[in-house]
Amino acid sequence: MTQDEMKFAVAQAALKYVVKNTIIGVGTGSTANFFIDALATMKNDIKGTVVSSKATAQRLEGHGIKVFDLNEVEAISVYIDGADESDGDLNLIKGGGGALTREKIVAVVADQFICIADESKLVAMLGSFPLPVEVIPMASNYVKHQITQRIGGAPKVRENFITDNGNLILDIKDLKITNPKAMEVELNSITGVVTNGLFANRGADVLLLGTSNGVKVVTI
Ligand code: A5P
Repeated sequence: MTQDEMKFAVAQAALKYVVKNTIIGVGTGSTANFFIDALATMKNDIKGTVVSSKATAQRLEGHGIKVFDLNEVEAISVYIDGADESDGDLNLIKGGGGALTREKIVAVVADQFICIADESKLVAMLGSFPLPVEVIPMASNYVKHQITQRIGGAPKVRENFITDNGNLILDIKDLKITNPKAMEVELNSITGVVTNGLFANRGADVLLLGTSNGVKVVTI
């Protein structure tokens, strides 16, 4: 199976978690795009969606699926999104596409978070993928220094990239993430950080992992 076939398979498997007649949270990235296309087959069964990026809104609307502002909805039954890395406890790194802040907001509002990913994303310890941090532009140098002194790793501004919120992304390479929950809190305590791509304090509830032997359901 190719990586795209695995992404397609997990996107199809995620349809089982879609709660009819409710609002569905939809994430960002290539795996989420497969899910959006799959969701189009049951668009009349849901009330609509709340999204984590402008790109996702555009793709959903292209399928004729209604996109609500988060402030317009009472609840989100389930959030379905990909990840850049997951460990066995379903702590995640997200934000490779730069949509981490809106993704984290939708994830915390949703009753359930289903992560969809191919098997290359499952790791023993998070951190091989550079950890994205969204920062207010005027604070980027300050935040970089604080990260180097307090947390370690090698933060670098993502070139030619502005988030949907008008901010910058620092990608931190060479991090040893032994305690994802603590590191998530520590990074967010630096003034100028909007949020970081560790999804540990609100990790996934279920990981649908695409493997060459089919879709594996991972829970903790
Ligand atoms: C977007 O900001 C990310 O969090 C994506 O969910 C993550 O990068 C996974 O993307 P792919 O499905 O394209 O690998």
